[in-house]
Amino acid sequence: MTVLITGGTGNTGRPLAALLRARGVAVRVASRHPAADPDHVRFDWSDPRTHGPALDGAEQVYLVPPIGTLNPLPLVEPFLQAAEGRRVVLLGALAVFPGHTELRDRVAAMAGSTVLRPSGFMQNFTGPHPVAVDLRERGVLRTATGNGRVGWIDAADIAAVADAVLAADEVADEYLLTGPETLSHAEAAAILTEVTGRPVRHQQISLEERARQLTAALPADFATALAAVDLDIRRGSEDLVTTAVPDLTGRPARSFREFARAHRAECTPPPAPRPG
Ligand SMILES: NC(=O)c1ccc[n+]([C@@H]2O[C@H](COP(=O)([O-])OP(=O)(O)OC[C@H]3O[C@@H](n4cnc5c(N)ncnc54)[C@H](OP(=O)(O)O)[C@@H]3O)[C@@H](O)[C@H]2O)c1
Repeated sequence: MTVLITGGTGNTGRPLAALLRARGVAVRVASRHPAADPDHVRFDWSDPRTHGPALDGAEQVYLVPPIGTLNPLPLVEPFLQAAEGRRVVLLGALAVFPGHTELRDRVAAMAGSTVLRPSGFMQNFTGPHPVAVDLRERGVLRTATGNGRVGWIDAADIAAVADAVLAADEVADEYLLTGPETLSHAEAAAILTEVTGRPVRHQQISLEERARQLTAALPADFATALAAVDLDIRRGSEDLVTTAVPDLTGRPARSFREFARAHRAECTPPPAPRPG
């Protein structure tokens, strides 16, 4: 068995590759900049010539769609046609983006395939995510989510679910994935304060400011659509906990506190400046 992992260098693809290797499954790690490793293959959504060679010999596919694209189906459709007959596990989102619904329906209609729909990633508080940059530089979580709660999930738990789904005989059309509890950004800030020993607070910003913030990492049209999700969250769209992670992996989903402890250095603000 060989699994092609698109987004194989990313938050979910990297831990998935490790889990598959650990159970003796061959992996093909797709990347625009493949490492000098025989398991790595050059793959670019915007270069369809790379799709066929990446799929060659792979029976299953983990699909991370093109990042920051409002309507990914036209880019992904030729790939899906080439992947016909293979089990595809698509990384979707609990949040609803109109153009992404078409891709989701397209994959769910493929025999044996499934869609994972996770809530917000705990990794948004670490690494290059704009929220994480504000956190590390100023101890502030800037969003337009108000008191809306999110069932924060560790990307490693999504990878564990993907691994379980790829190994399963039968799968559902989709799984809604969350962590073990829901937390508002203010509640997440309180946990980060406790774990890092430095003050962290939530700052409510307008949707326009939120879109500007996200433009640091994403194209402007997608940043605007993503900012609008904050309004849904404020209204409770992600105030939801499912048992899919424990059901499919046989162990509890990681809590936000555990994640913050394990990644303390990456989510710690600078010390307060000394007076005078
Ligand atoms: N962050 C959240 O809270 C959240 C919540 C729910 C769902 N999601 C979904 O999760 C997905 C992954 O998001 P992420 O931020 O965690 O990203 P990620 O998976 O950590 O990184 C993006 C991956 O995509 C690859 N990639 C980027 N451009 C590519 C291109 N043109 N062709 C081929 N591969 C390309 C990158 O590989 P190379 O750079 O090596 O090419 C990288 O491995 C997104 O679809 C997002 O909608 C995120």
